Amino acid sequence: MVLGGAFSIFMALCLSCLLILIAWKRTSKGGKLPPGPTPIPFLGNLLQVRTDAIFQSFLKLQKKYGSVFTVYFGPRPVVILCGHEAVKEALVDQADDFSGRGEMPTLEKNFQGYGLALSNGERWKILRRFSLTVLRNFGMGKRSIEERIQEEAGYLLEELHKFKGAPIDPTFFLSRTVSNIICSVVFGKRFDYEDQHFQSLMKMINESFVEMSMPWAQLYDMYWRVMQYFPGRHNHLYNLIEELKDFIASRVKINEASFDPSSPRDFIDCFLIKMYQDKNDPHSEFNLKNLQIPSKDSKHQIFCLLFWYIFCHLTAKIQEEINQVIGTHRIPRVDDRAKMPYTDAVIHEIQRLTDIVPLGAPHNVIRDTHFRGYFLPKGTDVYPLIGSVLRDPKYFRYPDAFYPQHFLDEQGHFKKNDAFVVFSSGKRICVGEALARIELFLYFTSILQRFSLRSLVPPDDIDIAHKISGFGNIPPTYELCFMAR
Ligand code: HEM
Repeated sequence: MVLGGAFSIFMALCLSCLLILIAWKRTSKGGKLPPGPTPIPFLGNLLQVRTDAIFQSFLKLQKKYGSVFTVYFGPRPVVILCGHEAVKEALVDQADDFSGRGEMPTLEKNFQGYGLALSNGERWKILRRFSLTVLRNFGMGKRSIEERIQEEAGYLLEELHKFKGAPIDPTFFLSRTVSNIICSVVFGKRFDYEDQHFQSLMKMINESFVEMSMPWAQLYDMYWRVMQYFPGRHNHLYNLIEELKDFIASRVKINEASFDPSSPRDFIDCFLIKMYQDKNDPHSEFNLKNLQIPSKDSKHQIFCLLFWYIFCHLTAKIQEEINQVIGTHRIPRVDDRAKMPYTDAVIHEIQRLTDIVPLGAPHNVIRDTHFRGYFLPKGTDVYPLIGSVLRDPKYFRYPDAFYPQHFLDEQGHFKKNDAFVVFSSGKRICVGEALARIELFLYFTSILQRFSLRSLVPPDDIDIAHKISGFGNIPPTYELCFMAR
């Protein structure tokens, strides 16, 4: 009995010491981090941060601690930024300080700091410069990619016509269409929709995005140091991504077999040119570990379509704009967008509400940083909550409602809104933004030019709540009828 009591007192003392140590570390050498809920040793703020509703947990904490606060993912402090002003002050006004990529333990074992999206320092600068140049040449700003998207839209319309207005889940069709554009930039070719390799590539990409958004992944982000040694779904995600890497490696081999450095056909060829140029440089960043493809844009565009349907009273107005500017026969072009402010505003508003990456991607301060009177030591992870910017009441009159006027002035002209940050902002802003924007506009105008959308369920009864909400928001499945106009 006496021994048991002494042990309890000893444990209580240890716990108190740990708590004091954590509080001290927050304010001393460890910096003066923003306030936040008191963490429990080892568990951190698990009691306040629900792994199945992480974004909502942060919004709750924002009410108590303000727009900048600290939470502990296990023993690791993470600074959370909410709302447009805090995120802009960090990512734009102090862009360089906040330009590092934060820890993403679910992907770390696969990538180990390689590849554009997960790298830091010189490696990141080299890969980012290279990717932007190649995307500009193959993907953006050139007519060629517009033509590619128009052609792909044609294949999509052909597929949709085959169903003659019967209800279908458009997810599959749209994700094939969107993924094929990335494929044509990266691999230099579109795949036939029935191609087995293409289908398994898409399955891997979609499944890995879903896995990364599940509660287990949030738990893993907090306790990976322990969880990595146990069996679990993280091993499944690891295997999925390894398969994706094998697929890319196999495409590299195919490219190498017919490679002509004087006329690069795609992203891989451009990468190969750099690899050959640097083959005697052991420190070159142009190696296979740094060759990756992004994977989240298709979900976004699919979800957009659902919203489009729900606000289908608006499709009539968009179709009117299509009739006036494009007509019923000509294929939609990117430069039509400037003459279609209403359509443009609706696309922006849909993107704002679909909010595919609510937490944003984790950033990291690359040097000791003073921010809003706090001191963030070099290496502190920072989450800019994109979802909170997209619903910031100071910038959006009706944050939770669908209201295209957020992007229209009184004369009905398109109006930019600084808090529209679906692609993030600052030095890490999405490199695929221009490409994704062209795709969104061309696919949706092409669809609405040819089809009216109907559902078997009345619009008000459709549940648009995200099926899963974690790193990404995963849209619910749904069916629509595409009625030829
Ligand atoms: C609607 C579609 C898309 C959305 C909503 C989106 C959103 C984002 C967001 C929020 C980030 C994180 C930025 C940050 O760290 O603060 C990001 C990064 C990135 N995106 Fe996208 N993206 C989309 C499409 C694309 C496409 C089509 C590509 C490829 C061509 C792409 C390539 C990348 C890359 C490589 C990064 C990492 C950039 C870096 O770390 O420097 N994305 N994207």
